[in-house]
Amino acid sequence: MFTKSAPFYDAIYAFKDYEDEAERLRAMIQARVPSSEVTLLDVACGTGLHLQYLKKQYAVEGLDLDPNMLEIARRRCPGVPFHQGDLVAFDLGRRFEVVMCLFSSIGYAKTLARMQQAVLTMARHLCPGGLLLVEPWLTPDVFETGRFDARFVDEPDLKIARITTTSREGALSIIDFHYLVGTSDGVAHFTERHEVGLFTHDQYLDAFRAAGLAVDFDPDGFIEKGEFEGGAKTP
Ligand SMILES: C[S@@+](CC[C@H](N)C(=O)[O-])C[C@H]1O[C@@H](n2cnc3c(N)ncnc32)[C@H](O)[C@@H]1O
Repeated sequence: MFTKSAPFYDAIYAFKDYEDEAERLRAMIQARVPSSEVTLLDVACGTGLHLQYLKKQYAVEGLDLDPNMLEIARRRCPGVPFHQGDLVAFDLGRRFEVVMCLFSSIGYAKTLARMQQAVLTMARHLCPGGLLLVEPWLTPDVFETGRFDARFVDEPDLKIARITTTSREGALSIIDFHYLVGTSDGVAHFTERHEVGLFTHDQYLDAFRAAGLAVDFDPDGFIEKGEFEGGAKTP
């Protein structure tokens, strides 16, 4: 889904303060996870923008489906293990104190059954007493169709206009991205269609509980859409 836009992801999302988000994650982890040597897995890690900061304190690993996003993440975070895999069904054969899935990436599971499977898969990678953090996508009642949005990048060597439109097919939100990208090579136009599942908060809560996690939703979470915090039982 991000295959064509991966080289421009960091420029498009330059407005997001990943360092501050990592700082808030650290405070949350410190408050919830007693271990002094925290291992952390970032599921749908993208270009490694959170991990570049978190790796200073924790033993981190990342997983993403898109090889182009992973290539940028590997360059950004040398020495950090990155895995190509689907957040719905992966098996790294080990467990982590913290597993997180941020910036609404869980929505790429698309269907309710696959979202439940993704939560179960992430829960299976948690140590006893570990913490699962999921920042959800929009819920079905607040997602608006027929919206359009524009974002612009105006750097000396890179100009981007990205226009987005939204539609919906049942519980699937559809975001069509139109990119116009100007570089010294000329101007390129391409489109990307993202299909992102719309799940209610109760559906997320049920998925956490079904995976054996005690769960809370913090609407004032550390990023814009709040986050679900699931704790794995201690043995
Ligand atoms: C909105 S980006 C978020 C990236 C990163 N977590 C961040 O905060 O910048 C969504 C990410 O989900 C990844 N993704 C989409 N579908 C996926 C799947 N089925 N399994 C794993 N990663 C997936 C995309 O490649 C992309 O890197």
